[in-house]
Amino acid sequence: MGVVIIIGAQWGDEGKGKVVDLLAESADVVVRYAGGPNAGHTLVIGDDKLVFRLVPSGVLHDHTVCILGQGMVLSAKVLGEEIDALTGRGIDLNSRLHVSEHAHLIMPYHVMVDELREASTKGTTIGTTKRGIGPCYEDKIGRRGVRCADLRNLIAARARVIEAIANWTPTFRELGGEPPEVEAIIAQLEQHAARLTPLLADATALVDELRRAGKSVMLEGAQGTLLDIDHGTYPFVTSSSATAGGACTGAGIGPSKIDRVIGISKAYTTRVGGGPMPTELDDAAGAQLRDQGGEYGSVTGRPRRCGWLDLALLRYAARINGLDGLAITKLDVLSGLEEIKVCVGHQTPSGSSDSSPVGQLANAKPIYESHPGWQEDITGCRKLDELPTAARNYLSFIEQQLDVPLYLVSVGPRRDETIVLRDAFA
Ligand code: IMP
Repeated sequence: MGVVIIIGAQWGDEGKGKVVDLLAESADVVVRYAGGPNAGHTLVIGDDKLVFRLVPSGVLHDHTVCILGQGMVLSAKVLGEEIDALTGRGIDLNSRLHVSEHAHLIMPYHVMVDELREASTKGTTIGTTKRGIGPCYEDKIGRRGVRCADLRNLIAARARVIEAIANWTPTFRELGGEPPEVEAIIAQLEQHAARLTPLLADATALVDELRRAGKSVMLEGAQGTLLDIDHGTYPFVTSSSATAGGACTGAGIGPSKIDRVIGISKAYTTRVGGGPMPTELDDAAGAQLRDQGGEYGSVTGRPRRCGWLDLALLRYAARINGLDGLAITKLDVLSGLEEIKVCVGHQTPSGSSDSSPVGQLANAKPIYESHPGWQEDITGCRKLDELPTAARNYLSFIEQQLDVPLYLVSVGPRRDETIVLRDAFA
């Protein structure tokens, strides 16, 4: 099996880090294709918890080549810190971490604008991660972005920075802030250039070369389908293409070379930031999911909004991404509930629908089916038939409703707390 895309099927935070880390055992190459250090993916290795914001989760396997693709936006500072943290733990990145020359750099003014906007009462605040992601993609689309390749030519980079700061100056003034000095920004770029230039690569050529050499390639998504700029709950979305189509663009692989797309979903739903979420629970059940699931942002610490699984939205994700397989995470978090509800469709002003119109979610009321819960601790289960009957029935219901086969089920945060049903690379 050649190329597998792993994407978040909900609003991000589906547990992609653990799944990618696990599947990376069979992958030779892991490519991140979109987003930036918006949020972190948490990996639990033994008793250690590691949070990565930029480097692909596969980095912990010393055979894996890790590539940051051109659909990404990178903070040179965060990347430098992650490289330091990994090398400090004895993880050798030498010649196996590559950064696309065409990835864009998040500049300090992007972070400043993101923070000022979120603090402002003017315009729509959407609860961003305040990492400068949106403003950086705005500069990319506005053709005044600074790309990693510009680190090789700081004279050209200076011109870009001058243009971008001039463009952002009215925004700064309107939001009550001051734009930064060009020279200070260039001085920082000089420092980053020394560090990052050796990692730069023609990433699409590298991926193609490795794929042609028979290496298995995993394209690791960030955020999730419902945060996708085109297919998510606009305007409460991130600024990149988090879906399977974005994987082709962000990694530079043609669609005909993709062999499988696997979506990851929690056994329930979470969301951070603003925007509609039909199955959100404001009651004790929601609080229980948050506490049992540790549903707080891995980098921002923000409490996540929690609710029942929404199959209408997952059907949409299955369609948009062309899902071939599903990984269900955090099934163990549901243990101890008497009753588990599942949203099978939405009632909207224009009627009921079982595959949700994302544009109408603000007025959508979930149509629930109720399932019996289970009381047993399931973290020790390694096979489907070791699960309580109610948990097995819950999984079969999801599989049958979506008509997408289950590839794995995660029953705890550790790597080994997983029921593997199918081989993603077989
Ligand atoms: P931004 O990506 O920081 O611009 O934030 C845009 C929206 O996407 C906000 O609602 C964020 O909370 C959400 N978001 C961005 N990254 C993640 C993620 O990795 N997990 C969950 N939500 C995210």
